[in-house]
Amino acid sequence: MHKIDIFDTTLRDGEQSAGINLNTQEKLEIARQLEKYGVSIIEAGFPASSPGDFEAVKLIADTVKNSVVTGLARTNKDDIETAWEALKGGVQPHLHTFIATSPIHMQTKLNKTPEQVIELAVESVKLARKYFPLVQWSAEDATRSDKDFLVRIINEVIKAGATTINVPDTVGYATPIEYGALFKYLTENVNGIERVKLSAHCHDDLGLATANTLAAIENGATQVEGTINGIGERAGNVALEEIAVALHIRKDYYQTDSGIVLKETKRTSQLVSKLTGVAIQPNKAVVGKNAFAHESGIHQDGMLKNPETYEIITPELIGDASTELVLGKHSGRHAFTNRAEEMGFHLSDEKLKAAFVAFKKLADSKKEITEDDLFVLLTDQQVNTPEVDVYELESVQVQYGTSNIPTATVQAKTPSGQVEVVSSTGAGSVEAIFNTLEKLVNGEVHIIDYRVSSVSKGRDALGEAIINLTFNDVVSVGRNASQDVLEASAKAYLNAINRQLIKAHYQERVPVTQ
Ligand code: KIV
Ligand code: ZN
Repeated sequence: MHKIDIFDTTLRDGEQSAGINLNTQEKLEIARQLEKYGVSIIEAGFPASSPGDFEAVKLIADTVKNSVVTGLARTNKDDIETAWEALKGGVQPHLHTFIATSPIHMQTKLNKTPEQVIELAVESVKLARKYFPLVQWSAEDATRSDKDFLVRIINEVIKAGATTINVPDTVGYATPIEYGALFKYLTENVNGIERVKLSAHCHDDLGLATANTLAAIENGATQVEGTINGIGERAGNVALEEIAVALHIRKDYYQTDSGIVLKETKRTSQLVSKLTGVAIQPNKAVVGKNAFAHESGIHQDGMLKNPETYEIITPELIGDASTELVLGKHSGRHAFTNRAEEMGFHLSDEKLKAAFVAFKKLADSKKEITEDDLFVLLTDQQVNTPEVDVYELESVQVQYGTSNIPTATVQAKTPSGQVEVVSSTGAGSVEAIFNTLEKLVNGEVHIIDYRVSSVSKGRDALGEAIINLTFNDVVSVGRNASQDVLEASAKAYLNAINRQLIKAHYQERVPVTQ
């Protein structure tokens, strides 16, 4: 068995995708869960890209102890020094720097000759090594680069002190056989490749990211990069949970240990989906809702006779115990606190109290409280930032009839502390609510996407609303789970607006040292 390092870039390449904007607290929660999941490296962001990213990377580097924390930097001095300020508190400060190596990127994007690109790469790695004990260098668009140019530049950056070489398939162009062959070629031709880690980084434009990553592992990769649920630019990055489970189920073939705590898979996937607002397709490998559903009669019959007939992965392996009834109406504070801790939540007394109040309210109207319900309540508290003044919905009322004009009235507390009552109409109940809230927030709002789904099973299940919108041209995702989908929709809308206020609040506070 050899060890493969798992490098998670959910908070950098993943967060870079359209419509996702996590705040600092949410990024920290994801990082903590990734640490529990056992990833070797967490790419927490791109510190020089914004004060918000700087703050999140710093907080994560200062907090996480069992995974290495890294941040991205271009080849310039400012990026590298800003990254150092953010990452220096980490247990093993690690920098990820990159430059493009393909002809199209060097000529049209960078306007540099190959020799100039080598010089920039070498200078950046040398500068980074003055600060960081661990420096990863990436050849952006490696799979459309000349192989021998790659060998030359990698020889030079290893001499300059790079400790990891990453070979990204930036545009998801390679096929598994080509990508595997590239790793074999580099392993055979780069001087000193055995002294550094060799990393794969695959995008999924042709749906080949998982196959390509596994091909790289077969051909010498010692680290693989990806995101939870495969989120990321365009078609996304490779889904790390698929790689971890594939390496486990087929360890007879790959003979590789990823160090991932597989029973944390479902929780990690749910947390990322919930906080980013990116839904998981039902038939998604490993973490989709239907990944363990057997519908056809022949399959069900086989499963009853011996589950191994059709089930190569068990729900238990990935920690999928979501339908378990965990607490009821009569459960007390003590049982609630124990359960929250067993589920891995460590909340302050104040937040625990608020979560317990929400639990009691839910238990009054919902017979069975499942682990999925608790997960929603506890996560809401965990990422709650009471120190920032935001909009708070006090009540929403909708008048609807098939032959009436739907009318909504909202009472809400505004960030200035005033209580306002606003009302408006719409073509349907949801539109009436959204039109009313647009009046309340007094800005231009465009709805990009809006979805409602149930958190667990049964007619009394919590309804979760996820909304993607732009508020004064800035994209935001909001979400809420409530027993009534109209209330969830109103709260999700305000949540999207509030997340912008929270982000702005933190950005104002953060000094970026350059
Ligand atoms: O896909 C890519 O090339 C990247 C680099 C920054 C490593 O994400
Ligand atoms: Zn990428």
